[in-house]
Amino acid sequence: MASIEMYGGKPLCGEIEIQGSKNAALPILAATILIDGITILHNCPKILDIFYMVKILESLGCSVLWEGHRIQVDARPCKKICVPEEYAGKMRSSVIFLGPLLAKKKEAFLPYPGGCVIGTRPIDLHMKALSSMNIFFKEEGPWIHAKGEPILGGNIVLDFPSVGATENIVLASVLANGITRLENAAMEPEITELCCFLTKAGAKIQGIGTSVLEIQGVKELKGVEHTIEADRIVAGTYLFAALGTRGQVLLQNAPVGQMRATLEIAQKMGALLCEKDGDLFVDGKNAWERLPYIKTEIYPGFPTDLQSPLLSVLSVAKGNSIVEETIFESRFKVVEELRRLGASMEIEGRQVIIHGKERLNGCCLKAQELRGGAALVIAGLIAKGKTRIIQTQYIKRGYEDICRDLKALGANIFYS
Ligand code: UD1
Repeated sequence: MASIEMYGGKPLCGEIEIQGSKNAALPILAATILIDGITILHNCPKILDIFYMVKILESLGCSVLWEGHRIQVDARPCKKICVPEEYAGKMRSSVIFLGPLLAKKKEAFLPYPGGCVIGTRPIDLHMKALSSMNIFFKEEGPWIHAKGEPILGGNIVLDFPSVGATENIVLASVLANGITRLENAAMEPEITELCCFLTKAGAKIQGIGTSVLEIQGVKELKGVEHTIEADRIVAGTYLFAALGTRGQVLLQNAPVGQMRATLEIAQKMGALLCEKDGDLFVDGKNAWERLPYIKTEIYPGFPTDLQSPLLSVLSVAKGNSIVEETIFESRFKVVEELRRLGASMEIEGRQVIIHGKERLNGCCLKAQELRGGAALVIAGLIAKGKTRIIQTQYIKRGYEDICRDLKALGANIFYS
């Protein structure tokens, strides 16, 4: 399965259920290392990043049972402290093992993390914050060696509300000696979910959902069962696919409460939305209005992960739009590919100026990263004729089965 083909130009129509959240499941899986008992997670998405995460847990000595969307972890046999390069290199989220390994084993070895090609993505904020908890870092060849004995609570103010750094600090502090106060914490829903999961296991965290978290270290965490929430980025991707193709879709179990900024954008473009019993009905028949200026922001603003999918939709809006990327410095790789389909857009610094066209025409495209890859699928469904996308393994990192889902919405799409 290296490429996807589709015949576009047809409105999507139908209903699909939204998969569990990748960005919630990843830190929660890392958090299982902290738990003295069995963790059972439901609704885990069957995606590549979760596969890598499970492989890392197993290589650390955890016993993992993965059946369908249920993952059971027993971290009590976990003895090792070294995150293997083989999987860490494939996924930046492997940095999230730093906090739990330090909390539980007081020491960790981590290769410099990999992931999407969307900027340099350093981990200086993680290291600076953890350093104020009596944790010391040394560079040893390609490895980061971290040690802290004991791990002490501290007062931390993040220079930028990094999602990953906030998660690592929370994970390092739940078993630390004393209280950790974290200011300017990220407020993404995945952090709220991680904190709720840890609280169920016995952690003491105040300020959940706000930018100031106070964590009182406890002696141990106990086994827990948890259901992963639906993925707001996957829901947003399919919403934009409906808008771009002027379709009508029902997104079952969409986390609408976490999608306000995205829904507002869809409405500005002319979409009609209706929320009922946890489902979201999207009518994109008249969603062709331009967006004079939109920027990506930290939560609750418009998420950077949906910026590329939005570019695909705006490529066929009526008139000119501007999209500014404020979170990552290099997240416009998709622009060159969209131009191959006939889209008219240019990059000016951190902005893309899009001149809406009447139609796109199918051709052969190359996915270069996860969300950009999904954006190309949307563009291929908008375009008339046949589109072929290669290197689709990136898409599999975050979407269970994008062809299955879009077929359920009536698309003529298949793996080739
Ligand atoms: C998480 C999400 C990712 C999303 C991003 C922003 C997961 C698994 N991934 O990534 O899908 O796009 O949040 O919402 O949840 N930065 C530094 N130094 C650091 C850490 C970050 O300069 O130590 C910079 C990054 O390069 C980037 C910005 O801060 O420009 C945001 O990064 P961060 O919030 O940490 O994102 P991730 O946790 O990597």
